[in-house]
Amino acid sequence: MKTFRIQIDGQGVDVVADSETSVFTAMTRAGIAWPVSCRNGTCRTCIARLLQGQVRYEIPWPGLSSDEKEEGYCLPCVARPMTDIVIAQA
Ligand code: FES
Repeated sequence: MKTFRIQIDGQGVDVVADSETSVFTAMTRAGIAWPVSCRNGTCRTCIARLLQGQVRYEIPWPGLSSDEKEEGYCLPCVARPMTDIVIAQA
């Protein structure tokens, strides 16, 4: 299992996450408050800007359009890091 660094832009906070843990779960374990509701990738409450790096999804439908993915949005509740990432609240 690989580990990656999650940086939350504008907060100066770094979180270490593994490749099997959602970005949201890693942030929660580190004591970071982030908006969340469904935790399954449908409601979009947790939506964030992925400013750097790449994430993957284990579900086929994360509640983002392909345009939104290309524009750099992600859903931390179901996104798992593939690289070091930098995210910001959308
Ligand atoms: S909390 Fe609902 S999509 Fe992430």
